[in-house]
Amino acid sequence: MTKKLWGTRFIKKSNPLMDKFTSSISFDQRLAKYDIAGSIAHAKMLHKQKIISSKDAGLIVGGLKELGAQIGSGRFKFDAGAEDIHSNIQDALFKKIGNPALKLHTARSRNDQIALDIRMYLMEEVSGLVALIAVLQKSILNFARRNNKVIIPGYTHLQVAQCVLLAHHLLAYLESLERDKMRLVDAQKRINAMPLGSCALSGTGLPIDREFVKKELGFKTVTANSLDSVSDRDFIIEVLADLSILSVHLSRFAEDLILWSTKEFNFIDIDFSFCTGSSIMPHKKNPDVLELIRGYAGRIHGDLSNVLILMKGLPLSYNRDLQLDKPPLFNSIDTVKDVLGILAEVFKYIAINEEAVANKLMDESLFSVDVVEYLIKKGISYRQAHDIVGRMVKNCLDKGRKISSLSTVELKKYSPQLEGDVKKILNAWTSVSLKTSYGGTSPRLVRQQLKKWSKRLNA
Ligand code: ARG
Repeated sequence: MTKKLWGTRFIKKSNPLMDKFTSSISFDQRLAKYDIAGSIAHAKMLHKQKIISSKDAGLIVGGLKELGAQIGSGRFKFDAGAEDIHSNIQDALFKKIGNPALKLHTARSRNDQIALDIRMYLMEEVSGLVALIAVLQKSILNFARRNNKVIIPGYTHLQVAQCVLLAHHLLAYLESLERDKMRLVDAQKRINAMPLGSCALSGTGLPIDREFVKKELGFKTVTANSLDSVSDRDFIIEVLADLSILSVHLSRFAEDLILWSTKEFNFIDIDFSFCTGSSIMPHKKNPDVLELIRGYAGRIHGDLSNVLILMKGLPLSYNRDLQLDKPPLFNSIDTVKDVLGILAEVFKYIAINEEAVANKLMDESLFSVDVVEYLIKKGISYRQAHDIVGRMVKNCLDKGRKISSLSTVELKKYSPQLEGDVKKILNAWTSVSLKTSYGGTSPRLVRQQLKKWSKRLNA
């Protein structure tokens, strides 16, 4: 059983219920490698500052390295009865090297230790997330490139609006994902500060060298206020907020794909290998992966709320409530990693139902704005042009006719400026080609954007 780091002052043994209730070892053991790296840097610093002898430092660092190797290879057995990862490692070190281990905790508290461990964990995980987002971006980009001529109806209010290139729609995803990456990279700037040496809350009277520890651990700066170092978790909230925004994006992409894969839309086929069936309805092919991606967004937002509410009433500085920041943080990071990974795979195998999509493009209401702009180019005011086309669309709908079926005489009834050549623009390819304003869906612009993204993502 791991020895408590604080037992001596206590006149009674702790209640086993209390031990179980307060322990965090079941979830903070995943911070072990950072805890060990922090301890090694700390021990080296204590030696450099002549606070501990070179012999003790050698034993401590050697022992910690051995423990690290054991943990890395899965040979280390965590003590389920330990209060936390810090106590567990401290105790294991004592069992390995004896009394010199007792000097490791000099000028240190578990309060600054846990702050260090999570910051190190996050530096690594956030970089991993950024890389995974890039993998998803590449997968979406490749899907866009494979289908760069496909035009789909675009929607507003989930009502048919105007034609867009499928690639243009997909490049919109890349834009949001790029901002998600930037937010995470930016969050790293604030994570990247070394809190060790803040001790419990006020710093220490011992001659430590925080800069040295910072350099050993590869941090950019040292935290500037010992109270702040042990009591704020805004950097966790920031990552969770970034992941919440990211998960909104992922959920919306999933929703698009779910809609597009329905019989009603029938734009795409999600590969069988990413669908499930029904135990009762033999015909079903359900997009469960995408539905779960949508669903997981809720859990991630819950994790953010969880930590926000956890923090809001805490007096400075450290309070044990802070222990509970880790399960939601770990859950969000694990979940987002899974979602990013599987969504990148799903995109690899989506097939376009070209015929069904082409049929949807026969709906001439998709071109009504093009006709409005045709009239504007002939000198008619925007308002009048809108009215003219509005009347024409209404009559066509009432009579079940297509604009393209109107004779020149019929067209001229709506406006003398409407001539037979207007029919030339009533097709999807012309419609997208007309959208040449920067950021628009014209094939030329989309080609440029595809190139830009290929370069940027190195794909
Ligand atoms: N398990 C604790 C946490 O996650 C570690 C710090 C405990 N500090 C203390 N003084 N009890 O926050």
